[in-house]
Amino acid sequence: MNPWPYPLWIAHRGAGKLAPENTLAAFRVGASHGYRAFECDVKLSADGVPFLLHDATLQRTTPAHGVAGERDWNELARLDAGSWHSPAHAGEPIPSLETIAHYCLHNGFALNIEIKPTPGSEQETGYAVAREAARLWASEALKPLLSSFRPDALAAAKAADASLPRALLLDSLREGWLDDARALACVAIVANHAALDAAVIAQVHAAGMRALSYTVNDDATARRLAAAGIDGLITDVVDHFAPDTLIHS
Ligand code: G3P
Ligand code: MG
Repeated sequence: MNPWPYPLWIAHRGAGKLAPENTLAAFRVGASHGYRAFECDVKLSADGVPFLLHDATLQRTTPAHGVAGERDWNELARLDAGSWHSPAHAGEPIPSLETIAHYCLHNGFALNIEIKPTPGSEQETGYAVAREAARLWASEALKPLLSSFRPDALAAAKAADASLPRALLLDSLREGWLDDARALACVAIVANHAALDAAVIAQVHAAGMRALSYTVNDDATARRLAAAGIDGLITDVVDHFAPDTLIHS
């Protein structure tokens, strides 16, 4: 296996339980707890700007409704993505990937970009996000890790820039999961913690890939996965797990 450059602990959605998920405020909270690696969800605006949002629609995390990817970036950028979480975060904007890239680069933080396409735009999103990531991290040695549940999005990311590291996200070990990861030349799989044990992690390692897990929010699961040889843990509870909680060699 190649050396693994990313920290073991990764803040999920930018530490998006203590602050509104997928906003700069969430990243700042993660950083204040010592986190140096972050996961976030990225999709495309109607005019092709990669931005951070988990859901396909706007209503859970903003006052607007409908499909986020049908709106232009100048409209999305004006939305309040913080009030749904708490009054203290009122007016917190949806960030572009560019804004988050600059924040991470200024602070030396690693980023896991989950490509989260609006349904129907998997290839377009994978391609555009990889192109943007390649541009933003052009002069950096540590590139962002591009992950997705969608092999078609990862294939498009590979076509856009094969040099960016890719990871296949898995909710379960579905038929063909390891072959898919190999075919996409992934450096890692990122699986639901319930799907992982020592045997599966050993299988991933034997294939020359790393094994990461989401969303690990309790001590027993973290300990179990650490003992099984996990390479990365994505967590919501940045106020519970110090990022040096488990030293993995
Ligand atoms: O990237 C890991 C994790 O974020 C996948 O689940 O729904 O939180 O994006 P979700
Ligand atoms: Mg995600």
